[in-house]
Amino acid sequence: MIQPIRGTRDILPIETARWQFLEQAVRRVFHQYDYGELRTPIFEKTELFARAVGETTDIVEKEMYVFADRGGESLALRPEGTASVVRSFLNNGFERQLPFKAYYIGPMFRYERPQKGRYRQFHQAGAEMFGPEGPLADAEILAMIVRFLEEVGLAGTLTLEINSLGCPECRPAYREKLIAALEAKEPELCGNCQNRLHRNPLRVLDCKNESCKEIAHDAPHMLDHLCETCDSHFTGLKSHLDTLGLKYVVNPMMVRGLDYYTRTAFEVTTDALGAQSAVAAGGRYDGLVTEMGGKNPVPAIGFAMGLERLALLLEQQEIGAAPVDIYLAAVGDEAAQSFGLKAAEAFRAAGLRVAMGLQGGSMKAQMKKAGKSGARYSVVIGEEEAQNAQVTLKDMEQREQWTLSIEEAVARMKSA
Ligand code: HAM
Repeated sequence: MIQPIRGTRDILPIETARWQFLEQAVRRVFHQYDYGELRTPIFEKTELFARAVGETTDIVEKEMYVFADRGGESLALRPEGTASVVRSFLNNGFERQLPFKAYYIGPMFRYERPQKGRYRQFHQAGAEMFGPEGPLADAEILAMIVRFLEEVGLAGTLTLEINSLGCPECRPAYREKLIAALEAKEPELCGNCQNRLHRNPLRVLDCKNESCKEIAHDAPHMLDHLCETCDSHFTGLKSHLDTLGLKYVVNPMMVRGLDYYTRTAFEVTTDALGAQSAVAAGGRYDGLVTEMGGKNPVPAIGFAMGLERLALLLEQQEIGAAPVDIYLAAVGDEAAQSFGLKAAEAFRAAGLRVAMGLQGGSMKAQMKKAGKSGARYSVVIGEEEAQNAQVTLKDMEQREQWTLSIEEAVARMKSA
């Protein structure tokens, strides 16, 4: 038997109900905030991600699936969605139609060490907004994330963490200060952090190594070194969140693993998934459009959520998609079966979800299946019922039942 590729998995029919529930909530809620769906290719020129995500990030250095196509061009499976959205934004001239708001749902690929909640092919639902510069946009995005989490029943279990990563005005001076502070402790840093100390020093701040954590704790933090504009942007964001009554925690150690961020960075975290704590993450990237070749700077902000992680949380909390409305069991001769099928079709035509016991079996066996299906109602048809053109509709919760014609049963179900 051929096995699937390490870090990939089949999402089975029993799980897809949860996935569809999540995806439908994404579409419904993002639509309410005036986002339209953008579908970009799954592979792009390697250079796109190298430039957008950053040459010195783990994603670009170690995690991208890169290959040469038959023409010799270097291509990569997308490790994230923002780079492609920015490329599409520029290719299609959306700078002339600001604000531009787009969302996406789809697979991403990273060569990471697989574990619970971390895969090599995983799925994100994300959104990007181009144009607005002020903190009102940041607050709107966070409100949308929280509304989505409320709709799927997860808001209460998650924490929203925010930070500011400064801008090209204030970050270089801070970076120098941070390097100086870290150099003094260099021998105590882990090998990985010693390596990135000069190339990507901010990443040392969120290293999981205990000794690095201690050093990071005492190191200078960006929040204490923001320029006036960044500082008032962050204060503005906090005040909008307070007005909306959205709870958040300021985490000065959160730095994010992609280089394009400026000012606001945020993560929605949980402690229910072991080491993989972020279920959604994002931030502002005001410099990326010009970096990727845009003539004029266009401020932007966005985020992405990990659908595997959200699906795991739903499963843990036993939040699932709704069961079928009716389990229909037709027992007896062919005429009874055929009448049963006709009844099932009538319920479906009325918009109801029906599972019919197509594999037959005794009445007892079928009633067991009806119970397992989670349906509140069952419809039972035996030979006698079929001859009288009637069905027995049962409310399995209230333990009531009625013998009705198909039309009467449909009408009762529609008003139930
Ligand atoms: P990210 O933090 O790299 O950001 O990924 C966002 C989310 O995707 C994570 O919080 C996590 O839930 C999920 N995720 C990432 N890697 C994996 C994996 N290997 N397995 C399962 N889930 C994973 C971005 O990708 C940015 N593009 C977000 C963004 C959009 N920033 C601005 N706009």
